Order: sequence, then C-alpha cells, then structure tokens
Amino acid sequence: MHILITGGAGFIGSHTADALLNRGDRVRVLDSLEPPAHRGSPPEYMSSDIEFIKGDVRDRAVMSRALDGVDAVIHLAAYQDYLPDFSRFFHVNSVGTALLYELIVERRYPIHKIVIASSQAVYGEGPYNCPDHGRIWPDGRTLEQLEHGQWDILCPSCDAPLHPVPADESMVNPGNSYAISKHTQEHIGFTLGRRYQIPTTALRYSIVQGPRQSFSNAYSGACRIFCLRMHFGQPPLVYEDGGQLRDYVNINDVVPANLLTLDHPGTDGEVYNVGGGKAVSVSKFAQVVINKFCKTEELEIPGKYRFGDTRHIISDISKLKRLGWKPEYTIHDSVQSYMMWLREQPDLKNFSLEADRTMESMQVVRQALKA
Ligand SMILES: NC(=O)c1ccc[n+]([C@@H]2O[C@H](COP(=O)([O-])OP(=O)(O)OC[C@H]3O[C@@H](n4cnc5c(N)ncnc54)[C@H](O)[C@@H]3O)[C@@H](O)[C@H]2O)c1
Repeated sequence: MHILITGGAGFIGSHTADALLNRGDRVRVLDSLEPPAHRGSPPEYMSSDIEFIKGDVRDRAVMSRALDGVDAVIHLAAYQDYLPDFSRFFHVNSVGTALLYELIVERRYPIHKIVIASSQAVYGEGPYNCPDHGRIWPDGRTLEQLEHGQWDILCPSCDAPLHPVPADESMVNPGNSYAISKHTQEHIGFTLGRRYQIPTTALRYSIVQGPRQSFSNAYSGACRIFCLRMHFGQPPLVYEDGGQLRDYVNINDVVPANLLTLDHPGTDGEVYNVGGGKAVSVSKFAQVVINKFCKTEELEIPGKYRFGDTRHIISDISKLKRLGWKPEYTIHDSVQSYMMWLREQPDLKNFSLEADRTMESMQVVRQALKA
C-alpha cells in the first residue's frame, strides 16, 4: 500500500511511518514542521525511505499533491497546545480535515481508508458515579472551586465526592477548543466519509508517551516535562494535588492500533479509544520518573492548576480490545525509553522553564489562593 501520513514528522506519525515501512508499505509524509516541536528541517529520526513533502494541511495545492497516488491516509497533523489561541485549533484541525475530504471528492482520488487521530480530550471530564445519584457527566470545575483548591468534582445534586468511571465511546463532553476541534474532525470524517464512500475510522488516543515526543515543546505532556525537569536537576512540578487520574499509553501500543484500524474493514465508520487500560495518578507517574532517574527528590506541589484541565479522565478500551488489540507496555517502559532518548539529544535545554513562564503570563497556569 502507498500511505500518506499527515503530521508524519511528529511523534506518533514517525513511529507509525517506521512500522509501515518495515512491513513493506510505501510512505509519503506531509508535514509543515511546526515550531516549537521542529526547528526548520525534517527531524533526524525520520527515515530516508519516506517521501517527504513540506507543507500545510490547509494548503489546497500541497494537499492535492500529497494525495495524488496514495491508497490511504493517516491524518495526524494537528494543532494541539494548551494556549488560548482558540481559533487556530479550528483552522488547522477542522478546516484541514474538511479540505482533505473536499479534495478527495473533487479530484476523485481512489482513497480506500482514512484514519483520523482524535483524542480522549473529547470526553472532557468524562463520566462519574455518585453513590446516590448514579452516572453523571459533570461540567468542569468552576474558577471559584479552583481558586480555593477544591480539586475534586462534587455531585451537583448532593455535593458528595464523585468517582471517575472509564469513558466508553458512546458519549462526549468536550470542554476546550482543542477537544471541540478533535470532535469536529470525527464528525467531518464520518459524515463526509459515509456520504462519499470514503471509509473512515477515528482513534481517540489517551496521553501517548515515548521517544521523539518533542522536548522543545514543553506546554503539555507529563512524561516529557517531568523527564526534562529531572534531567536538569529539578523535581517534577505537579499541578493541583497530583491526584488527577490518567491512562497513559505507550507509543508501541498506539502504532499497532493505527495499523490494525488502517487494515481492518470492520473498523470503517467506527471510533475507538486507544488507552493504557490503567488509571494512574499524576503523582504516581511523577514518582516513577524520579525513581527512573535514580533520585530521591520530593515532588513540587505548589497548588498551581491549569485552567480548564480535567480532574480525571480514563478511557474504556474494551471496544478496541475486542479486535484483538491490547496495551502491552507500562508507564515504566515509557519513562525509561523517554529518559534514554532525552540523554542522547545533543541540543537539550530546559524548555520547560520558558513554557512555564508563557503559560503563567497567559494565565493558563494559575496559583490557587488556598491549596
Ligand atoms: N501525543 C498525544 O498524547 C496525543 C493524544 C491524543 C491525540 N493526539 C493526536 O495525535 C496526533 C499526532 O500527535 P503527536 O503527539 O504525534 O504530535 P506532534 O506534534 O509530535 O506531531 C504533529 C505533527 O503535525 C505537524 N503539523 C502541525 N500542524 C500542521 C499543519 N497545519 N500542516 C501540516 N502539518 C502540521 C507538526 O509539524 C508535527 O510534526 C494529533 O492529531 C494529536 O491531536 C496525540
């Protein structure tokens, strides 16, 4: 097969490209090499067997050239930082996806599969259980709650603490521009895909971890930020009280999910969670990072929070498991491989310092009054 990977110079795309090349597929990558993840030229890790086109997914001419002659598309290019430039998420993610389908229809490209990278972010806070009021999809926490360091979500009916439940694919509750834009990508893909017979699958990745996740973009990503800080002798800085639950997934589990859904006609028109299958607190994850670096530092927990962040989010991965996929790698594997990769990088700087300053100056990261 001849496969186009948009965003294929990035973290998930480059690992997916390697796996496709290994099994004998031809790979074309379209990527605009966005800073700060990239610095002008294709990354060293990108295989020379890849046909590389530098360009933007919103550019008709370049997208058309990228689509010409391929059989399938893995659409990963996206804007995904934590900054408040709301409109950019829709320009890149939603408009870019619409243009992909527009060109396929207009120029009759015989594409027989599109896999769209969506995100666990579409669930927002996700589902919770109240012992008395059952299943609830709560709104995010109010500013007042966060300012007072009331991190946990309470039942809107009785104020009892709620217990997070893994989110299956049936409901979404996106709570920020990134999440809404990811959900629009799914909508665009499924609606236009169905109408114009372009088989489409969407994958809602949980937090993906592993080497090549750009260390120069330290706005999000617990693994890279904690590892970067530890590398420069600073303990992990944990937001809230560190009790937030996540289901981190290793890149070596994400790549097989991409390939499985690319190949499997039974996945057409379907959306799947791709998660780690285990709820891990941010503090626990940070402790794993400290241990891997063989240090004894205490976590730094100053009562800061990321405005708009979810308290807990965990994905239910049963649907993809029914196709024979399951996560094989642990957070220990993810941290170990990221740490080793980081140590090999020649031009490493503590990018998290600048990212912290930017996020605080833009009020993305704030200090609770009482924590
Ligand atoms: N990494 C995660 O934890 C995670 C979690 C959920 C969803 N996702 C989704 O997976 C996809 C890949 O994420 P990643 O972690 O590999 O990110 P990444 O930043 O490493 O890779 C994204 C690539 O897309 C390119 N790109 C960005 N805007 C572009 C544009 N307008 N035109 C062309 N190329 C553009 C970038 O240069 C980059 O190489 C994204 O769609 C993201 O939303 C990632």
